[in-house]
Amino acid sequence: MMTIKNVPSALFFVLLLTRAIFGTCDDERTNSNCLSSERGALLTLKAGFVDPKNRLSSWEGHDCCSWRGVTCSNATGHVVKLDLGNTYGRIIQDEVWFADMSYALHGEIRSSMIFLQNLYYLDLSSNNFSRSKIPEYIGSLKELRYLKLAHSHFGGRIPPELHNLSNLQYLDLSWNNIYSKDVSWLADLSSLKLLDLSGVNLTGSVNWEKLGTLSHLQALHLFYCGLNETSFSLSHVNFTELVTVDLSFNEFSNPVALNWIWNITCLKYLSFSANNFDVRLPNALRNMNSIEELYLGGNNLVDMKPNDLKNLINLKFLDLSENKLIGDITEFIESLSPYRFQSLDLGENNLYGNLFGWIGRMTSLTTLSLSHNYLSGPIPLSIRTLTRLVELDLSDNNFHGEITENHLSRMSNLKKLDLSFNSVRLIVDANWLPPFRLSYIDLSSCCLGPKFPEWLKWQTHVRFLYISNTSIADEVPVWFWHVFSKSRRLDLSKNNLIGPMPKSLEFMSITQLDLSENQFQGLIPKLPKNLYELDLSRNALSGFLPSNWKYLFLGSLNLKQNLLNDSILKSICQLEHLVFLDLSHNFLVGNIPNCWRSNLNSTEKNYSRRWSSNESIVKPIALKSLILSHNNLSGEFPKHLKYFKSLIILNLHNNNFVGSVPPWIRKKLPSLRFLLLGSNRFNGTIPNQLFKLEVLQLLDLSNNNLNGTLPRSLRSLQALTTIRDDIFESHDPFSIDVGMYPLTDAAPILIEVDTKGQLLDFEYNILYYKSLDLSHNNLVGNIPEEIGALVGLRNLNLSRNKLYGDIPRSVGKLQSLESLDLSNNDLSGSIPLSLSDLTFLNHLNLSYNNLSGRIPSGRQLQTLDDPSIYEGNNGLCGFPLPIECSENKTTSQYFISEKESCHDVYVGVIIGFAFGAWTVYGSLLFKKSWRVAYFVFVDNMYDRFYVFVILNARIMRK
Ligand SMILES: *[C@@H]1O[C@H](CO)[C@@H](O)[C@H](O)[C@H]1NC(C)=O
Ligand SMILES: *[C@@H]1O[C@H](CO)[C@@H](O)[C@H](O)[C@H]1NC(C)=O
Ligand SMILES: *[C@@H]1O[C@H](CO)[C@@H](O)[C@H](O)[C@H]1NC(C)=O
Ligand SMILES: *[C@@H]1O[C@H](CO)[C@@H](O)[C@H](O)[C@H]1NC(C)=O
Repeated sequence: MMTIKNVPSALFFVLLLTRAIFGTCDDERTNSNCLSSERGALLTLKAGFVDPKNRLSSWEGHDCCSWRGVTCSNATGHVVKLDLGNTYGRIIQDEVWFADMSYALHGEIRSSMIFLQNLYYLDLSSNNFSRSKIPEYIGSLKELRYLKLAHSHFGGRIPPELHNLSNLQYLDLSWNNIYSKDVSWLADLSSLKLLDLSGVNLTGSVNWEKLGTLSHLQALHLFYCGLNETSFSLSHVNFTELVTVDLSFNEFSNPVALNWIWNITCLKYLSFSANNFDVRLPNALRNMNSIEELYLGGNNLVDMKPNDLKNLINLKFLDLSENKLIGDITEFIESLSPYRFQSLDLGENNLYGNLFGWIGRMTSLTTLSLSHNYLSGPIPLSIRTLTRLVELDLSDNNFHGEITENHLSRMSNLKKLDLSFNSVRLIVDANWLPPFRLSYIDLSSCCLGPKFPEWLKWQTHVRFLYISNTSIADEVPVWFWHVFSKSRRLDLSKNNLIGPMPKSLEFMSITQLDLSENQFQGLIPKLPKNLYELDLSRNALSGFLPSNWKYLFLGSLNLKQNLLNDSILKSICQLEHLVFLDLSHNFLVGNIPNCWRSNLNSTEKNYSRRWSSNESIVKPIALKSLILSHNNLSGEFPKHLKYFKSLIILNLHNNNFVGSVPPWIRKKLPSLRFLLLGSNRFNGTIPNQLFKLEVLQLLDLSNNNLNGTLPRSLRSLQALTTIRDDIFESHDPFSIDVGMYPLTDAAPILIEVDTKGQLLDFEYNILYYKSLDLSHNNLVGNIPEEIGALVGLRNLNLSRNKLYGDIPRSVGKLQSLESLDLSNNDLSGSIPLSLSDLTFLNHLNLSYNNLSGRIPSGRQLQTLDDPSIYEGNNGLCGFPLPIECSENKTTSQYFISEKESCHDVYVGVIIGFAFGAWTVYGSLLFKKSWRVAYFVFVDNMYDRFYVFVILNARIMRK
């Protein structure tokens, strides 16, 4: 958790500093007539802006000094301060402030601004200038001392003209899509006290040397800039006031090359979180006598010796989480002599040992995280002396034994308690009155049951409650819904909760509710108004979908595997913000209603109002995953799906859909990666366009009545022609286009692949799973040689068709193939030798064709020794068949009983989707370097659901 924790801390520095510099400016007045030239300049400026919420409505009349955001000087009447930063927004999940971009100004920043020559303060932050450049003329506002253009969708190069701003003390250009390859313009900003270029692309930038001459610099924020020691090296620095340096989320690997930093003795705050440090920290670190906060989490440090830190007598906050530290925690702690620490995070390392002996002495601690190590033993009673603790995180270790009231009875300051994923049992009296009011409880996979824990009744301030898989077999008491009605997220999944739910949960204000995998029965309750994620999957809910869903913000709805037997009501379509919908494995009947379309116009208008007209809006409807498999839905392929331009997963598997598969899928659903139409009654030919879907990685049309041939153009399935997908592999943190990164890529999806009746959970691997299943149709013709281009395929199933001709030799090029099924066709000729090149192959079925000749041998094929793979071919011989190949081939002498019929060996691939737990996001899907970056990027996005995904990613990293 290191990474975010220091963000607020760093922000705090920024704020302090800002106040120090600007808090005392009193040469301002607000009630005088402004100069008419400047008034004109302001009006011209206003005319260039698009101001959707009328933030500039006060900009009329003569006295421009009284206009909102404008401040004039007492003495001269000149406009000296222009504050157009968007301050609308809110704090999400108690942690980070997000601007409400519907209040953003956009449009053009007119050059009339240069008439405001007396400006010393300019703030245009959190607006949206649609990637236009930062105006060069800002460089001619020579009086500027404060310039803040952060989070404003600027693009292009940072204008070197900024070098003219020699009075500038505060420069914040963070989180724009801007870059600078040559930073020599910084050298002239000799008054600079704070520099924040976080999130700016500075990859490979040169001329950093002069930065060292900015002797007044107090704070340097270069968070997530693509820097490494090659370009960012300063041989000689003159920093005497520098207290804050944040170089988190860059590409530094060699701390020794950064010696200039370790020698800055005045530093109080230093963060190198999430770089690639993998060698010892230099001795020079020992000179940092002032350092109070040191963040080195998210590196690859193995050889960190506590002695390295011994001289840092002022150190109070230490984060070494997410490294590879190995060793006994007791030794580590003892040599660190850390009893003065307030915050210690050693989470996600390889530490072992137990808490005995030392834990009781850490009495200054307010935050302790030891999560995700190999710590063991019971939790000693001496932990009760840590009375100042606010956050205690011991999750993901091997602790066992009991935790009683005694352990916790003195921790009256505790706000966060995370003991999840240990084998501990919480044993408290039913009448226990806890001394704390927690806001975060994670006891997942601990033992709390079988009775519903009564002490939760007193936890009236909980925002996050995770008691999944805690062996509770009970009814949920009525007080629960009320006590936790103000929580944000509740996870009670994987218990044995029984009974009906309350009729209505409308009084709650929660946003995420997970009650999946319980025994709830009855109807789905009326839902809280602010809910955006609901998971009720795997219960026994029946009846209808509620009809009062009009106003909900629901983004993710999972009702998989219940007993719902309604038709899909229009109420579903009222969920305008839906991103993920899974209604699979129910008993739904009827058509997919055509109702989302009516939302299109208003939504589209909405977007174009908010976004400048030159920015094309490609996704008026947010739905990305539509999973309706295993129901009794009927009708033709739903035409109105063409409006779901963002759709990534479409799963209609196992229903009663009829008619043809429409060719417009390619044009209208260009983002589709997973298309599952298998086990329906589709007929007609497979449109060639389907084989041109560039990002499609999983196509399942099996078990329909489709006919036609396999086109040569199938090599246009580009995603299948690469082994992995670059989008997930990229190391370039800037390669993600802000706002266009599809949610489902971030969402882990469980895929159940049923091979031979076994359910395999692929979890996040689905992102890489590539499959083509056209089995059980009426396809005719040859298998084109071009099939060999689809080298990414892990599953190819063309069985049970009427394909004839040879098996193309190019099949041997499908190097990723794990499963190949060509059975029950009319294929003839010999089995290509190249098949033995497929080193990952573990399922093969060539039975019931007209193949002949010697079965190739060698390598992987040798392990596939089940004769049924080849049965039902009259001309095959050799291992593993009990038929020797005679020199003069005679094909009719061997014979395999038809009775051992083919459906026993049918290796079909039946695919369904489940929505994966949000919990796996972080560690599996986000490169460390993306997480926070996203976190910050998201406030620029118009799709609010991204925000929640990211927040979940961060909060739920497990
Ligand atoms: C500006 O005006 C304010 C109040 O009108 C006054 O308190 C302040 O002293 C003035 N500053 C200067 C520099 O005249
Ligand atoms: C630093 O980054 C540059 C440009 O991206 C690259 O050429 C260089 O090899 C990198 N140096 C190290 C030490 O990784
Ligand atoms: C270092 O900065 C101080 C001002 O803080 C200045 O007087 C001195 O000349 C600078 N030294 C060098 C070597 O640049
Ligand atoms: C960031 O800069 C590097 C080097 O100049 C460049 O290769 C990369 O494409 C840039 N990324 C973006 C998204 O502009």
